[in-house]
Order: sequence, then C-alpha cells, then structure tokens
Amino acid sequence: MKELKILGVVIFFTLIVYIGVEPFAHSQMHHKADPADFSFKDLPPNNKVGDITRGKELVMGAGACTGCHSIKSIGIEAPMDDATASASYGVVPPDLSSIGYLYDENFLAALIKDPKVALKVEHKFQNKPHPMSSFAGAGGDIDQEIADMVSYFKSIAPKKMSDKEVFIDACGRCHSMKYDKFIRNSDSKSLQDYLGSNPPDLSITIRWKSKEYLETFINNPQSQLHGTAMPRVGLKEAPQEQIINYFESVGDSKKAERESLTPKIIGFFIIFTILAYLWKKSMWREVQ
Ligand code: HEC
Ligand code: HEC
Repeated sequence: MKELKILGVVIFFTLIVYIGVEPFAHSQMHHKADPADFSFKDLPPNNKVGDITRGKELVMGAGACTGCHSIKSIGIEAPMDDATASASYGVVPPDLSSIGYLYDENFLAALIKDPKVALKVEHKFQNKPHPMSSFAGAGGDIDQEIADMVSYFKSIAPKKMSDKEVFIDACGRCHSMKYDKFIRNSDSKSLQDYLGSNPPDLSITIRWKSKEYLETFINNPQSQLHGTAMPRVGLKEAPQEQIINYFESVGDSKKAERESLTPKIIGFFIIFTILAYLWKKSMWREVQ
C-alpha cells in the first residue's frame, strides 16, 4: 500500500506542475492580445448590394485596378514586370484573381477607399501617399461603386484554393517559404526601403511562434508587434486557417507522427508500471 501512496503523491505534484504552473507561467510571459476580429469592426461598414456588371467596368476603367495589378484568371497580365513594379511601388502589387476568396468584403471595400486605414499603416504614411492610390469615385455614389467592384471580384474568385496558393496570393509578395522552394516576387532591397525592415522567410515560423500568436498576429499585426511594418492583411477566417495549416505542413511535417506516438508512450508507461508493481510484489513474497 505504501508504494501506491507514494505513486499518488508523485502523480498529484506532477499534475499541479503540469496544469497549474506551466500555463500560468506561459500567460505571464506572453503578451495577451485581443482575439482575432474577422468582422473588422474598426472599419466603416459598406451595406450596399453590388452590381457585378457595373463592377467589372469600374475595375477595368475608373477604378484603375488593372493599371497596377494583374488579374491572371481572366487573362489580364501585370502592366509591369516584377522588378520594375517593386522598384516603383516598393512591393509587387498582388494578382487580384483570388481576392474575393481571401479577403473579407468589408475589408476590401475599406481598402479600395483608403488603403492605409484598412491596412493599419497610417503611422507610416502621414506625410507621403500610400503606393496603392485611394479610389476617388467615378462620379456616382462612391460606396455603391465600391460595392459593385467587390461583388465583381467575388464573382470571379475560385471556389477552392490549396493552402499553398492562399499563402502565395496573400503573403507571397513579401515573404518567402524556402523549405517549400517558394521565393517571393518582390525585390529584397525595394522591400527594405519601402517597409524599413526585411520580411523574414516563414519556413519555420510554426516552430518559434505558437498557433495562438499567429491567429491574432495575422489578423492584426499591430496587436502583437506594436509599430510593426507588416500591414494588416484582412483575411477571412477560413483562408487564415489554411495559412497556419500550410506553416505546419512545411515547418513541422512530423507533427502528426509525433502526436500519434503520445498515446503509445503513455500506454507503455502504464503497462510498465503495472508489471513493475506485480514483479515487486512477487519478489517481496519470496523474501518474507
Ligand atoms: C497605383 C497602383 C495601384 C492601384 C491603382 C491599385 N492598387 Fe491595389 N495595391 C497596390 C500596391 C502597391 C499594393 C501592395 C501594398 C502593400 O503590400 O503594402 C496593393 C495591394 C492590394 C491588395 C492586397 C491588400 C492586402 O490586404 O494585402 C488588394 C486586395 C488590392 N491592392 C486591390 C486593389 C483594387 C481592387 C484596386 C482597384 C480598385 C487596386 N488595388 C488599385 C497598388 C495599386
Ligand atoms: C507588405 C509586406 C507584407 C505582407 C503582404 C505580409 N507580411 Fe508578414 N511581415 C512583413 C514585415 C515587414 C515583417 C517584419 C515585421 C517587423 O519586424 O516588425 C513581417 C513579419 C511577419 C511574421 C513574424 C512576426 C514576428 O513576430 O516576428 C509573420 C509570422 C508574418 N509576417 C506572417 C505573414 C503572413 C501569414 C502573411 C500573409 C497572410 C504576411 N505576413 C504578409 C511584411 C509583410
């Protein structure tokens, strides 16, 4: 019976350390950010119902989107090659084929109206214009015109994308993923001049940043890294999850294997403990 009591005491203290102390220390050491806000409540809502046909005219015309961006899925190539674009804007403007899949509608509307507000980089563009010009309107109700363009982008968006495609379209103008042989299309020196810091390669992000950190950081970089040069990206929840999955598959490909091993190891220790106990009991019986 004595050894059972000792075992009980050991289990009791192990549990206290595991459940009580570790998460407590963790919560003290890590900055707590507000939970991710996928409705982008800080941005003014646009409740207009968009017209797809009118939206298409605006995107190709007064909206000027194709003056800087490609829309490859409908055959519109970029007006400049990558090197010229990154020298001109600091970063290569992303292709717009999938933005209706990736980004929240309200976020997109606010982005078209005033990029530095939607991207949360006002602090960096107080005295200079943002490289993406604000849409000034085509003469009608500007909110209606913006809603029209957003509904056009939603109408051409793919229904499904792979995790890697989401990463490339949303993050690939600034970040590389060398472990998956993906190199960003913007030039490093232009990015450094534009952002004031060089966006890191994200191959092993998942090893040095927790999932919880990434969930709030990607949704709102300023919440975790005040004053950071990384703009808010405006992803919907599902594509953001796809990006974190992608990080896990590239940076921690052994995770599933490791996790499936845990119950086996625990099972081994339980059986081992029982055997050791029975063995000890039989030994004592012989001695007595
Ligand atoms: C004068 C050039 C220019 C025009 C015109 C322009 N953009 Fe952009 N756009 C950019 C640049 C440059 C970026 C990248 C900015 C950055 O990453 O800091 C960008 C970024 C974007 C992004 C990515 C935002 C994010 O959350 O990461 C979207 C979406 C976008 N533009 C849509 C549009 C649409 C829609 C239009 C037309 C209404 C448009 N752009 C017009 C230059 C332009
Ligand atoms: C316009 C360029 C740009 C885009 C687009 C961009 N990032 Fe960043 N990112 C940066 C910069 C610059 C930094 C370095 C920030 C710093 O040091 O302040 C950074 C840093 C990071 C970090 C490291 C954060 C840390 O705590 O050190 C992660 C993770 C990250 N980005 C993820 C993403 C993801 C995921 C996307 C796409 C959804 C993305 N980024 C899109 C520019 C960008």
